Amino acid sequence: MFDPYLIRKDFPMFINKTKMQGHNLVFLDNASTTFKPQCVIDAENMYYSHTSSNSGRGDYDTMYQVDQEILETRKAVAKFINADPNEIVFTSGDTEALNLVVFGYFANHLKKDDEVLITVAEHASNVLPWFELQKRIGIKVKYIELTKEGRLTLENVSKAITEKTKVISVANVTNVLGYFVDLKPICDLAHEKGILVVCDGAQSVPHQKTDVKQNSVDFLAFSGHKMLSPTGIGVLFGRKELLAETEPIILGGGMNETFKLDGEIVYHKAPQKLEAGTKNIAGIYGLHAAIKYLEKIGLENITKYESELRAYAIKRMKEVKDIVIYNENAEAGIITFNVKGVFAQDLGTLLNSKGIACRSGNHCAKLLHHQINEIATVRASLYFYSTKEDVDALVEALKEGGNFLDAYFA
Ligand code: ALA
Repeated sequence: MFDPYLIRKDFPMFINKTKMQGHNLVFLDNASTTFKPQCVIDAENMYYSHTSSNSGRGDYDTMYQVDQEILETRKAVAKFINADPNEIVFTSGDTEALNLVVFGYFANHLKKDDEVLITVAEHASNVLPWFELQKRIGIKVKYIELTKEGRLTLENVSKAITEKTKVISVANVTNVLGYFVDLKPICDLAHEKGILVVCDGAQSVPHQKTDVKQNSVDFLAFSGHKMLSPTGIGVLFGRKELLAETEPIILGGGMNETFKLDGEIVYHKAPQKLEAGTKNIAGIYGLHAAIKYLEKIGLENITKYESELRAYAIKRMKEVKDIVIYNENAEAGIITFNVKGVFAQDLGTLLNSKGIACRSGNHCAKLLHHQINEIATVRASLYFYSTKEDVDALVEALKEGGNFLDAYFA
């Protein structure tokens, strides 16, 4: 098992930004984005300082080195989720990946009245593209009922399926409630009925081993920046035969073999046909370094550590008077809460004044209030470099804040 205190030495943010508002910085917003280790920053720097060139467009050494690194990164990403390198498309992030699935594949394979199943716990990127398709071609977006606790169950998936269901699009772990969804049985059921499964992996891939052959999802989207990589780099995995039928939603250089005066275009095969324009090459270098780093620590170790730290956090947070925790039993290191009588964003501001970064508001999951009856909550989210001291600082701030806010609201 790794030592989170030692590991922090790898992250410049823990060295350079030790204080916020005069207090020790406590970063508990890892579901939003993560800090980057020095090796990731070095990898980006290496590209800009030593091999700066475009890719796939020239016959000189540095470009050849860039092409090789892109190839190696594609292989590393594929291995990371047990896919084939040709099933990996580089995108700008989870959002672009989900948009590519919806507008590149489903816009051409769904028709009016076909049904897409999602849940009210999804964040914007797994809702809005479907809404747009509903507007454009008349598909119907329907919601799988969640349990009272907010979980997705196979039974409720089964109940929601009709003869018109063509897609189930859900997060493997949702970004506010943090429940883990076992996708394998859902995919088995869906595939029996000819339904495709899209998985939003933004909150799961950075924290646990993902195996697309084992869970048999058809598409999987995730972001690099939530797993130590630079911003602006993400991944879409799609099964080979589905990517072959996915149309580019951005056209330009790098994705075509040829084009003619009469407007005919011959695309490259996937994944290249889906990666028009100059890629985020520095981001790809960084993603590769991040994957190597995560593999060195071990995804199983990360999952175990976060689960233990979460249990500690729940135990300690329950000491806070009037706290309401919305996802006490979730698997992921995401803890969503409020303090009775205090508006979440006031609480977020108060935590900031104590040097603690948590997210507050609706967390881009703007349908979730239908489930938890709260428009705004505070979310503390852990990663493997989070510590018991971070949790203690949060608990103490909440306890002291309680007194302050009582006085404030008196
Ligand atoms: N979806 C990201 C979050 O949950 C941005 O904070």
